[in-house]
Amino acid sequence: MSPKAEFHDRMLSLGLARVAEQAALASADWVGRGNEKAADQAAVNAMREQLNLLDISGVVVIGEGERDEAPMLYIGEEVGNGNGPGVDIALDPLEGTTLTAKDMPNALTVIAMGPRGSMLHAPDTYMEKLAIGAGYPEGLVTLDMPPATRISALASEKGCAPSDITVCILERPRHEDMIAEVRSTGASIRLITDGDVAGVMHCAESHITGIDMYMGTGGAPEGVLAAAALKCMGGQMYGRLVFRNDDERARAERAGITDFDKVYSRDEMVTQDVIFAATGVTNGSLVSGIKREPGWITTETLLMRSKSGSVRRMSYRTPVDSI
Ligand code: FBP
Repeated sequence: MSPKAEFHDRMLSLGLARVAEQAALASADWVGRGNEKAADQAAVNAMREQLNLLDISGVVVIGEGERDEAPMLYIGEEVGNGNGPGVDIALDPLEGTTLTAKDMPNALTVIAMGPRGSMLHAPDTYMEKLAIGAGYPEGLVTLDMPPATRISALASEKGCAPSDITVCILERPRHEDMIAEVRSTGASIRLITDGDVAGVMHCAESHITGIDMYMGTGGAPEGVLAAAALKCMGGQMYGRLVFRNDDERARAERAGITDFDKVYSRDEMVTQDVIFAATGVTNGSLVSGIKREPGWITTETLLMRSKSGSVRRMSYRTPVDSI
């Protein structure tokens, strides 16, 4: 097969689930051990090994960093066995390295795949993000609105009081003003210490997670991964790149970005149908973390296809000595 072969998302998705699962299994030994680097490296190695078994001609577009700073799964690395369609891959082998090291909720292994050219080549900079779940008019909330306006718009569309809205925000000094403004509306805030891919995804399942809206600045690569997840789950997301210096602007230019102020919608970050897999490393509200019992280890994976809107939760139990 050539890279021109068709992207059969249904069958490839099962392989993608295995990639996410194996990365989680590899990081299992590092949960709660206080060693972020080792946990991340184990997940990276396993993800790369599994990806290279897939029948794809893949290119990493969101990865571990640029080639000179990441020996594996760097942006531009070709992955897969070459016997299949040309695909773009966005990945974060361990989203929440500190969460894993401290055994705190919502660490995930995350990967998305789509046809070549389907995902924004976001540089390794920050991104201002805003997300809500499905079922609201497009543009109900925007990045240009002050946080308090976003909350009153969402509350009035939902038919509730601002105090009934819960917003998820990364706990960072840069968000102090935003947090104060959100609190001034009476809305409640779920502060997270890391893991804004999960933070955004929580909006798509607000009936389970209790989170209505995500806002704040985090990694741009994580922004594209979150957009891929919401494209499968439903929901709106907006992102605007944030640059702290010229080096970051140069990264964006190398990634082909010319308009530095552009607000990207979900579908501008992920322009075609994609598949998305995330496996829980530590327990969370979206998926359970790795579970151990004598001789056995179990993972839970969320596997989704934007084309069909299908969401599959897969539990995988395997003897420890088979890993
Ligand atoms: P790591 O998994 O690389 O530790 O990243 C976790 C994370 O919290 C992301 O979810 C988020 O986008 C980013 O870090 C925020 O960056 P910073 O810690 O610099 O605020």
